[in-house]
Amino acid sequence: MQYLISPLEEQRQSADLLILPYFEEKKKPKAAFPKGKVGQEFFSSLEEDFKGEPSEILFSYLQGETEKKVMLLGLGSKDSYNTRILRKACASAAEFARKKKICSINLFLPDEIDNAGVEAVLDGFSMANYSFDKLKRESIKEKPSFFIEKVSLIGCLEKHKVLIEKHVFLMESVNLTRDLVNSNADDLRPKDLALVANGIAEKHPLVNCSVLGKEELEKEGMGLILAVNRGSEYDPALIILRYFGDPDSSDVTAVVGKGVTFDTGGLNLKPTGGIETMKMDMAGAAAVLGIIQSAASFKMKKNIIGVIASAENAIGSKAYKPGDVYISHSGKSVEITNTDAEGRLVLADAFSYLQKNYSPSRIIDIATLTGGIVVAIGDEASGLFSNNEEMVANFKKAAAITGERVWEMPLFPEYRKSLNSPIADIKNSGSGRKASPCMGAAFLKEFIDKDMPWAHLDIAGTAYLSETSAYYPSYATGVGVKLITCFIENL
Ligand code: BES
Ligand code: ZN
Ligand code: ZN
Repeated sequence: MQYLISPLEEQRQSADLLILPYFEEKKKPKAAFPKGKVGQEFFSSLEEDFKGEPSEILFSYLQGETEKKVMLLGLGSKDSYNTRILRKACASAAEFARKKKICSINLFLPDEIDNAGVEAVLDGFSMANYSFDKLKRESIKEKPSFFIEKVSLIGCLEKHKVLIEKHVFLMESVNLTRDLVNSNADDLRPKDLALVANGIAEKHPLVNCSVLGKEELEKEGMGLILAVNRGSEYDPALIILRYFGDPDSSDVTAVVGKGVTFDTGGLNLKPTGGIETMKMDMAGAAAVLGIIQSAASFKMKKNIIGVIASAENAIGSKAYKPGDVYISHSGKSVEITNTDAEGRLVLADAFSYLQKNYSPSRIIDIATLTGGIVVAIGDEASGLFSNNEEMVANFKKAAAITGERVWEMPLFPEYRKSLNSPIADIKNSGSGRKASPCMGAAFLKEFIDKDMPWAHLDIAGTAYLSETSAYYPSYATGVGVKLITCFIENL
């Protein structure tokens, strides 16, 4: 989709649809745009049938020269108006326009819109203009997905052009992440994630990629990644992508992603109802690929190391066993009390390898780690755990800018006690379901060096939605790409 700028109403070119935003008011909705020539007389009659509630749409045909259709779009009352409402309204407008097979749109921006507002508009339209069609065959021939091709932003200024350029790059990466997460688990094994990573490195000269295969992992003593992958027919991989956007600085942010290409639960097999979405268990890894690609595509002036710990948690006679003890790369021994708590195992090995070989300035990990975070906060926010207040504050800022919410969760030292093992240094899960997201985080913390600033994002609830919405069509959301890219950029 292409975004164009027309600072003035008269400069706009012809388009299929005109969109006019409105605020809700007691008697009559109030135009949120400067009422110039457009909307003087004709719209007064339409306004009768329309309140202007958030995401409300009134659609009509038009006798106009420049557009043949018009949409009044509600933004709710001015008092409660914010970028979240604007973003959702734009997504609803885009969803509606796609259903009507509308190619080109002229959109009046709300009055006095700032950068955050323009970004919300772009985000709403772009997020809604996505479909995952790769696995359709006959249905796509009969009913191909329709995409909006062009949106002209009326009231947008030249200075906003940079925002648009960057947004387009960012969305390419968000959609790469969404495509990867939506893909079949059988089409996307650890080596396929490595191929995507290599592809990014080939395309961008400031990125380089190295991959540790099974033999290298054995040589390095990565006992936990190897354990998780033992039941799989395919080899695990530790993928390292380095992006040097600021070679003069020694500051490097590491982003580590859980790349479990399918999580059966292992011998602690997941039940029906819990297993069907588990191809998405590599959403953290897919986000890491998206983050590196987006940083490289708009030449962000920061250094980033992306690390992907990838394995398949399969069942079979070779699968790792509950009750057995495995030795991690760090040297700590781990009693496996539940083979379904595998994400923390692959991440733990990645953490210690990363810290030993690359000494990053801070570590962020992103993982579909626990079902418990879905129970706790649902799909409205990702769980954020951190040992560093500054990182928490910066994540909250990035969340407000990108709309990818985070909610801070506790890392109480007491949780660690529940992971004491009688026969090993630590066990991989607490007993029962008590505080399961916090137990996961407490386990991870054991593999983070003292004084290393670290934040863990549990995206089990936000990475993949079983119901599609205007803003999130087709399952995978690409969560984390915008959030972490924004976090790093604003460091
Ligand atoms: N991949 C799952 C977590 C998950 C659940 C992601 C639902 C997305 C949706 C993870 O590996 C897992 O199974 N965690 C267990 C941990 C438990 C055994 C301590 C869980 O949450 O039940
Ligand atoms: Zn699991
Ligand atoms: Zn998992």
